[in-house]
Amino acid sequence: MPEDKALGFNMVTCSAPVNIAVIKYWGKRDEELILPINSSLSVTLHQDQLRTTTTVACSRSFEEDRIWLNGREEDITLPRLQSCLREVRRLARKRHSDGDPAGLSHKFHICSVNNFPTAAGLASSAAGYACLVYSLARVLGVEGELSVVARQGSGSACRSMYGGFVQWTMGQREDGKDSIAQQVAPETNWPELRVLVLVVSAERKLVGSTSGMQTSVETSSLLKHRAECVVPGRMEQMIRAVKKRDFATFAELTMKDSNQFHATCLDTYPPVFYLNDVSRRIINLVHRYNRHCGETRVAYSFDAGPNAVIFTLQEHTAEFFQVGGTFFPPETNGEQFLKGLPITGVTLSEELKEAI
Ligand code: DP6
Repeated sequence: MPEDKALGFNMVTCSAPVNIAVIKYWGKRDEELILPINSSLSVTLHQDQLRTTTTVACSRSFEEDRIWLNGREEDITLPRLQSCLREVRRLARKRHSDGDPAGLSHKFHICSVNNFPTAAGLASSAAGYACLVYSLARVLGVEGELSVVARQGSGSACRSMYGGFVQWTMGQREDGKDSIAQQVAPETNWPELRVLVLVVSAERKLVGSTSGMQTSVETSSLLKHRAECVVPGRMEQMIRAVKKRDFATFAELTMKDSNQFHATCLDTYPPVFYLNDVSRRIINLVHRYNRHCGETRVAYSFDAGPNAVIFTLQEHTAEFFQVGGTFFPPETNGEQFLKGLPITGVTLSEELKEAI
């Protein structure tokens, strides 16, 4: 951390990866504190995949807090940004109650860059707010539990504060202090698990998660049923599957939960559509492929956009790439399907081609 005491200048750069929910968060019971109506569970990707990198500088010479996102200055007065700034400063004040060693009275200049399309349903806000909160905390010398702060930037961001398999417990308290993220298992628990992101469309989504889930809470009875009667049991089953590395159960729960989330979007009034024809073709392809294999080798999950996230095991990755390449050749909609991914020496059998 470069530090210049004379100028009162501190700077840190951090990066945080995207996380993909396999049990989805959809719906808040408190909009301001961002408290969910159900617990959720996700897989955090590697740092070298989809990530946000944020540099925070704080200096006596800065006159106001400012933020740039992908090179463009954004509005720092956004309530969620303000919540994160306020909360980290509050924690810093508590920690450094004996003075101002970390430049608490100084303003921040924040620069954040995503290495993937922003707001295209690829969890950019999750990586973005996780990274922001972590960088602010580092620059002010704050340690400890920060997922409650990241949660106030974007709900799913609290899960990107940890690696591996992470649960966000909905909590019961009104102040949200028990609505935190915790690691269920480190990624080393399941080194064979592979996550592929199929970019069907890099465009910004028409209905953002925040407003989509708000309308769902107001209008969908299926969402209420899901939160109260389905998710609690699924969370337990999913945690067990992750700990046991039981891919078949993990995959089935992942696909069912993605499907139920999109069903609640359809049950929302007016309905919200995130999947497109290519997404639906991918869903069918995965089921046909699994059926042909006689076991569940691949699972899909879709967030608030048409892009597919595929979960599989190392031993099946190459064959599934090839399957995808055959059915979504680069000149079609699935242009990005195989982008940057190595495929070596796999030839699909005629039988498999016919089956799918
Ligand atoms: C479909 O975390 O983006 O990706 O809390 O309003 O910022 P806000 O919503 P956000 O919602 C993510 C929804 C989801 C499912 C998930 O990540 O669990």
